[in-house]
Amino acid sequence: MADLVEDVKSRLGIYDVVSQYVQLKKSGRSYKGLCPFHGEKTPSFMVSPEKQICHCFGCSKGGDIFTFIQEVEGVEFSEALSLLADRAGLKVEDYKSSFKPEKNDEKKELYKAHDLAAEFFEKQLFSTSDGKKVLEYLKRRGVNDDTIKTFRLGFSPNKYDALYPYLLKKGVRKQILIKSGFVSSKSTNYDDVYDKFRGRLMFPIFDVVGRVCGFGGRALAKGQIPKYLNSPENSIYNKSKLLYGLSHSKKYIKEEKKVLLVEGYFDVILPYQEGIKFVVASSGTALTSEQAKLIKRFTDNVVTCFDSDNAGFEATVRSYTILRDFDLNIKTVSVMKGKDPADFVREDKDGFLNVVTRARGFLVFFIDKLVKNNNIHDLDGKNIILKEILPYLKLLSPVEKDFYVRYLAKKLEIDEGLLYDEIQLFSLPKILASRKKSEGRIEAQKRQRFSNEEILISVLIEFPNLFSKVKDFVLDEDFSGAMKIVYNTMLSQYNASRQDQESWDFKASDLAEHKQKIELLSLYAEERYSSFPKEVVDEEVDKLLAQFKKTCKRDKLKSLERDISEAEKGGEKEKLMGLLLLQQKILSNN
Ligand code: CTP
Ligand code: MN
Repeated sequence: MADLVEDVKSRLGIYDVVSQYVQLKKSGRSYKGLCPFHGEKTPSFMVSPEKQICHCFGCSKGGDIFTFIQEVEGVEFSEALSLLADRAGLKVEDYKSSFKPEKNDEKKELYKAHDLAAEFFEKQLFSTSDGKKVLEYLKRRGVNDDTIKTFRLGFSPNKYDALYPYLLKKGVRKQILIKSGFVSSKSTNYDDVYDKFRGRLMFPIFDVVGRVCGFGGRALAKGQIPKYLNSPENSIYNKSKLLYGLSHSKKYIKEEKKVLLVEGYFDVILPYQEGIKFVVASSGTALTSEQAKLIKRFTDNVVTCFDSDNAGFEATVRSYTILRDFDLNIKTVSVMKGKDPADFVREDKDGFLNVVTRARGFLVFFIDKLVKNNNIHDLDGKNIILKEILPYLKLLSPVEKDFYVRYLAKKLEIDEGLLYDEIQLFSLPKILASRKKSEGRIEAQKRQRFSNEEILISVLIEFPNLFSKVKDFVLDEDFSGAMKIVYNTMLSQYNASRQDQESWDFKASDLAEHKQKIELLSLYAEERYSSFPKEVVDEEVDKLLAQFKKTCKRDKLKSLERDISEAEKGGEKEKLMGLLLLQQKILSNN
């Protein structure tokens, strides 16, 4: 197994792995992006190809490629390893003799069962007579063979014992069948199970890395309910954390720098088929913050395009409030030919692309809709519109406010100044206002704090040539624990090199256990200071040094005070005298 780990490491760099999940921007010798582990609006997630590590200076999560995948995919080490081995084109089996499976294999079994099920449904679609009718249905709806294969669409026969006997035969345990929701039972102990997905068009649902983790089965017969039967949640399927289509579209989302957010399965696959590939669906549920966070990993720009009915309108408004919390730019497709994107794109592909490309800010869409639905020439009408729109305007930045105030004032034929007054007077509902505040607070709290000595050392690690400037002002006894060892290492290398320090060697054995800490500190200093010119860093070091000396002095005095009071209690006159003199000396020496 050790070999596999090394082989994977030598093939996959931290940048390649992380950039699958996080939009990274070059920042000095490293890359920076929004942390995938906590919601944040300013990037504090660093990826260092030199050190082959990533780290969030907000929430402290990160590590090497394996810890990153464990964290981001929510998997155990062994699974992270096999995922990465897969991506590196290595076969885990080739290393099998030394590969011990971990005890938590349930997820693996669930994935396996889902993959087998998808395969089964695919086969039923293409090779049974009922399946062929479903193919006809798909053709009628404009879905071509390529798309069927790309999204692995399938068909579940209208029988109670089609899928589950097949899976049992393939070695899937009954326990797994139950957990995956493929079967139901009339008895509570699941003695007699039967297939739950019957007579449905099957949409496999993929996780972000493209593994099948659930299904949505669309009804095919008249009166068959529900219209969509969905997998229950389990350890691999959490629908509020998934976006349908993302594993297919993530690459295009990054390329196009935007995502088209739609509601349904067909709304994903048909635009995708027509070349509008940067599309994902919330799959009917109201968009969740987790989904918004997921989007934020790939892009800052969202174009929403929901059904043109009332439910679709409400979903649009709700999504806006959630997406805005993540500082995403939200545009909305407002002209809809047909009921939903699937209809539209089939009728008029170019027209669809056109409205997506020209989509305007959500609030323009919202204002237009309000203006259309109310009589603006009547005071009541104006008031209704204001009541709806003011909460949103209140939250905007000054520039945004300026834009939308102009737009709305013109539509309502009222004075812009009056509209500003209305915004000023309007107070946000308590819940909205308090949520905004508390989120900011959490973000601030989450930011990591290093001690003064750690920060000073971090700068010295990253900028070795500053060591000469610092060394005359500090003593090794000023440092403690790991920082003391690091300082002494630097000091002896500095003395040996005759003060020509360009880089440090931290390979000594007494530093082995502090390796991660050292890398982290170096990354921290890089993040914080490397974009500044030398003089600024110089100045910063002076400040750090002053700070550091101040804390040292304070700490020394504190411990002296303790010793003094002890000496007093013990009546040790001579010792007390010495301590008081020392105290005097430290106090007078500023
Ligand atoms: N949905 C669901 N359960 C339902 C109805 C809908 O999970 N009972 C989800 C599905 O993900 C569906 C989406 O909500 O794709 C949108 O619903 P709807 O517009 O009714 O379905 P369409 O995808 O448009 O399907 P069709 O075009 O076949 O009507
Ligand atoms: Mn629809």
